[in-house]
Amino acid sequence: MATAAILGCAGYTGQETLDRLLAHPELEAIALGSDSLAGQGASTLDPRLNGDLPPFVANDEALAAGAEVVFLCLGHEVAAAIEPPNAALVVDLSGAHRLEDASLYREWYGFEHPRPGAWSYGLPELFAPEAPLVANPGCYAAATLLALAPLVDVVDRTSVVVDAKSGVSGAGRALKESSHAGFVLENLTPYRVGGHQHAPEIEQALGFAVCFVPHLLPVRRGLLATCYVETDADARGLLEDAYSDAPAVRVLDEGMAPDLSRVQHTDAAEIAVYEDRATGRTIVACAIDNLGKGAAGNAVQNANVALGFDETAGLRLTGVLV
Ligand SMILES: NC(=O)c1ccc[n+]([C@@H]2O[C@H](COP(=O)([O-])OP(=O)(O)OC[C@H]3O[C@@H](n4cnc5c(N)ncnc54)[C@H](OP(=O)(O)O)[C@@H]3O)[C@@H](O)[C@H]2O)c1
Repeated sequence: MATAAILGCAGYTGQETLDRLLAHPELEAIALGSDSLAGQGASTLDPRLNGDLPPFVANDEALAAGAEVVFLCLGHEVAAAIEPPNAALVVDLSGAHRLEDASLYREWYGFEHPRPGAWSYGLPELFAPEAPLVANPGCYAAATLLALAPLVDVVDRTSVVVDAKSGVSGAGRALKESSHAGFVLENLTPYRVGGHQHAPEIEQALGFAVCFVPHLLPVRRGLLATCYVETDADARGLLEDAYSDAPAVRVLDEGMAPDLSRVQHTDAAEIAVYEDRATGRTIVACAIDNLGKGAAGNAVQNANVALGFDETAGLRLTGVLV
C-alpha cells in the first residue's frame, strides 16, 4: 500500500484520478488538494463521496502532506512552477514536463519554463515511466502515438496526417466561450490548427513531425485520432504484435470500427487499421477517452508500472458498456 495526494482534485482530470484511486487496492488517497474547495468535505465535489476521504486542503498543503505518490492535475504553467516533492513518484498530467527541450515552452505553451528537469515520458505500452518524475502524455498525443509509434520505421515520414477529434471535457472544467454549450452543441470545428501544443510532443516521441489537426466534438468525453500514412509494410501485423500483451490497448479485427461509446468512461484504447483502395494509403484510427487513457487512467497505469503494482490496478477495463 502507498499513500497518494492529488493536486487540482476539483478539475476534470483530478476527479477522474480520485475515482481510479477509490478502486485501487494499493493506493490510498490521503490528501485532496484544491484551492477552490479547500476546507470543504470531499462530498462537496460529489455527494457520492463518503466520509472516509479527507477534506480538501489547499494544493500547497496537499503537496507537503508527505504522500508517496503525487498526481499533479493542474494547469501547465502552475504545474511547471512546482518544486517536485520528495516523493517516491510524481505523475504530472499537465504538459509542463513533456517536452525535453524547455525552450519550446515559450512557443507552444506561451510561458518560459521556470523549472526544467529530467522527467520520463510515460505511456506504458510504448515508453516506460521511470520514477520518481513522470510526465503523462497529452490526450491527443496518447491516441496518436498508440496508432503510429509501432509504425515509425515503415512509414513515409514526410506525409503523415493526423485528423483528431475530442470531446469538450478535453478543455477542462473552467468556463470559457469556446466550450460553452451554445458554441459546442451541434457544431464541429477545427481549432489551434498548426499551433496545438501536442504537435511538438508527438514529434518528439515519433522522431518526425506530422500534420496534426484537432477538432472539437459536441460530446462530453472521448477522442478519436485518425492517422493517414503511406507504407508498404503490414501495418496491422506490426500493431497487433506491439499490443499483443497490452491490457489497455485492443487492435480490432478487420472490418470493425473504433467507437467512442465503447471507450468512453474507460481507460482502454481501441485501434483499427484500414487500407484505402483508391490511394493505397493505410489509415490507423485510435479511440480513447480523453479523461481515461488520455489522462487519469494512463496516469494511474504509469504509477502502477513505476511502483511495480499490477499494471491494471484501479483502471476501468473490464465489462461491456461500462
Ligand atoms: N481534460 C482533459 O481531457 C485532459 C487530458 C490530458 C491532460 N490534461 C491536462 O491536465 C491538466 C488538468 O486538466 P483538467 O482538464 O483537469 O483541468 P480543469 O478541469 O480546468 O482543472 C484544473 C484546475 O482548475 C481549477 N478549476 C477550474 N475551474 C474549476 C471549476 N469550475 N470548479 C472547480 N475547479 C476548477 C481547479 O483547481 P483547484 O482544484 O485547485 O481549485 C482544477 O484543479 C491540464 O494541464 C490539462 O492540459 C487534461
